[in-house]
Amino acid sequence: MSKKGMYSIAFAMLFTVCAVIVTQCVRSETHQGATSGQGGIILGFSQIGAESAWRKCNTRSIQQASEESGVQLLFANAEQKQENQIKAMRSFIAYQVDVIGFVPIVADGWDNILREAMDAGIPVLVTDRKIHTEDDRLYAGFIGTDSEQEGREAAFFLLKKFSRLGNQDETGDKPVRIIEISGTEGSSVALGRAAGFREALADYPEFTIIHSQSGDFLRSKGYEIMRNLLEVYSDFEVVFSHNDGMTLGILDAMREAGIRPGNDVVIVTIDAEQAAIDALRRGEVNCVIECNPKTGPAIMSLAKRLARGEKIPRLLHVDETVFSEYDDLSSVAPRGY
Ligand code: AHR
Repeated sequence: MSKKGMYSIAFAMLFTVCAVIVTQCVRSETHQGATSGQGGIILGFSQIGAESAWRKCNTRSIQQASEESGVQLLFANAEQKQENQIKAMRSFIAYQVDVIGFVPIVADGWDNILREAMDAGIPVLVTDRKIHTEDDRLYAGFIGTDSEQEGREAAFFLLKKFSRLGNQDETGDKPVRIIEISGTEGSSVALGRAAGFREALADYPEFTIIHSQSGDFLRSKGYEIMRNLLEVYSDFEVVFSHNDGMTLGILDAMREAGIRPGNDVVIVTIDAEQAAIDALRRGEVNCVIECNPKTGPAIMSLAKRLARGEKIPRLLHVDETVFSEYDDLSSVAPRGY
């Protein structure tokens, strides 16, 4: 054999060994977060992180449903970074999972990775938060919350509350000044809650949002923001907070300042964690809109359908309810988050 021929064989062998090593690395890296049974369907799932009790419950629901359904879960926590989500999705593609599921931290910026998944023939399920894409065919479907409706429900409660308080007088409607503490900027839930809220109040100019600021769905930011705002605003009637975590921080800041939340200021919040329902029972919160985190079983059943090559509905909203000071709360079951 010529020298050239020997070099070609050696190069081919070296290339094969490298390729095997790279593949093994990807497999073992993605397997670190794996739970549940052997064989069957593999779902690669990118979760945002653990920013709230709601999110932790959402993760538990997904992990538990994977155990119960026999869908093998490769779970990646993105620590609140979109780039980590994209990296995880890329490794799921390299691993050739059957289905990819993800909670998009923000609505924009997913087209390229979705195209990569499509080119690899892997269907993608978007869950909890929605996305904006150039082409809706880049993902198979969505299951999660209806954030516009949550925002509308918050507004409907205020309309009821302030008409009961006798908001009409001879000189016209008294102003209802609202402070909004919103969720993560650019997330579909923050955008949707804000839009639904404004839409439902559009015909009632006496309701005015005097300040709106993102608290990133974090209790610590809810506290910090409210402490600062109380130095700036002495008169406002309402706080609309996009999640319970931030609301709990807001309540702490108000109590410290000698304000009685639920009494001196009307508090409307979203999620329906146990702590928010407890605050509603104590009269420190006036209305709690449920955002349902228990989507694990539905995600597993959709993943199975996608893995079988079936079509799934484009849009599935989960059941959600509203709890307010006008309800009998005695039969509300423990929330589990
Ligand atoms: O996307 C759902 C939101 O994200 C929940 O309202 C919030 O608590 C969470 O962290």
